[in-house]
Amino acid sequence: MRWAREARDCSPGMIIGLGTDLCDIGRVAETLKRFPGRFEARLYTEQEQARAERRKTARAARYAQMFAAKEACSKALGTGFRKGVFWRDMEVVPLPSGKPTLRLSGGALRRMEDLTPPGMQAQVEVSLTDESGLANAVVIIFAIPASP
Ligand SMILES: CC(C)(COP(=O)(O)OP(=O)(O)OC[C@H]1O[C@@H](n2cnc3c(N)ncnc32)[C@H](O)[C@@H]1OP(=O)(O)O)[C@@H](O)C(=O)NCCC(=O)NCCS
Repeated sequence: MRWAREARDCSPGMIIGLGTDLCDIGRVAETLKRFPGRFEARLYTEQEQARAERRKTARAARYAQMFAAKEACSKALGTGFRKGVFWRDMEVVPLPSGKPTLRLSGGALRRMEDLTPPGMQAQVEVSLTDESGLANAVVIIFAIPASP
């Protein structure tokens, strides 16, 4: 598993993937109501669910932001949810500062490794927001020189 790092740790590198997504928070709220438990279990890791469920307000907005992050990452990987890339392979993990990171595993991690040029390592950056009923995510995947 690889972790995105704080911006101050970034080394010069090249962009190898870019993805964005907008997600309708109202649609997510309806889906959460219609399929209680099933939607969450299919798309989100246990840690993601636990963090969203701890929120007294804006629970649907939190799930929508994570939905957008996963879709944006699947686009940055150039696959969408195909070629063995699954929703729970891309986990939103906040740093203590509140900055979100994406932790990749399984097919998503393998795809990112395939994209990464020899001698380099991949670094994922994600930015999330929501406003006026929409959640937005932007994901950039960088390749930076591999640490010795
Ligand atoms: C890539 C993917 C994530 C697009 O998601 P979407 O929600 O259907 O559509 P969006 O409007 O967010 O994005 C579509 C755009 O993504 C881009 N896109 C398509 N395939 C892509 C790929 N393999 N890599 C990167 N970007 C891609 C295109 O620009 C596309 O626009 P176009 O349809 O006008 O050509 C889609 O391939 C996919 O795997 N969707 C699964 C969605 C799903 O299972 N939803 C169920 C919800 S419970």
